[in-house]
Amino acid sequence: MEKTINEIRRLAKERDAVILAHYYVDGAVQDIADYVGDSFYLAKVAKKVQNRTIVFCGVTFMGESACILSPDKTVLVPDMGAVCPMALMVDEEEIKRVRGEYDDLAVVCYINSMAATKALVDVCVTSSNALDIVRKLPQKNIYFIPDQNLGSWIASQMPEKNFIFGKGYCPIHHVISPGDVEEYRAKYPGAPVLVHPECPLEVSRMADYVGSTSGIIERAAKGSEKEFIVCTESGVGHKMRALCPDKTFHFIEKKICDDMKKITLEKVLECLKTNEPRAHVPEDVRLKAQKSLDRMLELGAK
Ligand code: 13P
Ligand code: SF4
Repeated sequence: MEKTINEIRRLAKERDAVILAHYYVDGAVQDIADYVGDSFYLAKVAKKVQNRTIVFCGVTFMGESACILSPDKTVLVPDMGAVCPMALMVDEEEIKRVRGEYDDLAVVCYINSMAATKALVDVCVTSSNALDIVRKLPQKNIYFIPDQNLGSWIASQMPEKNFIFGKGYCPIHHVISPGDVEEYRAKYPGAPVLVHPECPLEVSRMADYVGSTSGIIERAAKGSEKEFIVCTESGVGHKMRALCPDKTFHFIEKKICDDMKKITLEKVLECLKTNEPRAHVPEDVRLKAQKSLDRMLELGAK
């Protein structure tokens, strides 16, 4: 493993490549990355870095977003088979239909979506900025795609707006149930429940804290409690254990995103050797998708 890591470092330098990783990829991959974070943070980093090449250790929509935000860079995704299933759960005809039904409508799209979808919407959001951004939109009617669970969580915090939801969901978070939370609470009484909003609304309603991967990590690090129940993908445990070696994290049945786990050190090395595979977004799609991502960066800026 050390040989692979040294080779990755050498080639990254040679190619002027920066390595970005999401908290759900394997811990060994997070450890070689220059930047590790949640989707919002990584989008901001992808836009600002000066390097010629970005190696995006995450699923393909993340690499596409980097292409959209930094069109002059080569964006490598170590495994193009790492596709977020929720990003494909979009019905483009339905977007047209809903737009036709309301005058005062914003189509809000979770960043977990493909570039072609982003090109059809008004603004993108991530789990860490969705509440803030949707609140700032002047429209009363919000068509939230594709994640019905994140959409429902936002809607539950904003009774003044009217929401229509897409039918998508994250297969990893969607199956976490209120029964799981009850079971873990009984096993670990007093441990706060930290929930990602991709979980069903009934689970989010039971939480002591609801937030993005980085929000969950921060809540665990700042909290005075010693034990936590965590309802998200188990990859975030890597950072949590590193930051809080004295705390214990109980993940609901070790939820694992197989697509994120397709990114391995060996594939990172291989893509740096071959300069392939590259994320690509056709220019006409990119220009339209850029508007919804730029709007997110603008509205989401603190
Ligand atoms: P965040 O890291 O933005 O919370 O996103 C979670 C996720 O599912 C990414 O695919
Ligand atoms: Fe997609 Fe869920 Fe995997 Fe995130 S955890 S990449 S939303 S399948």
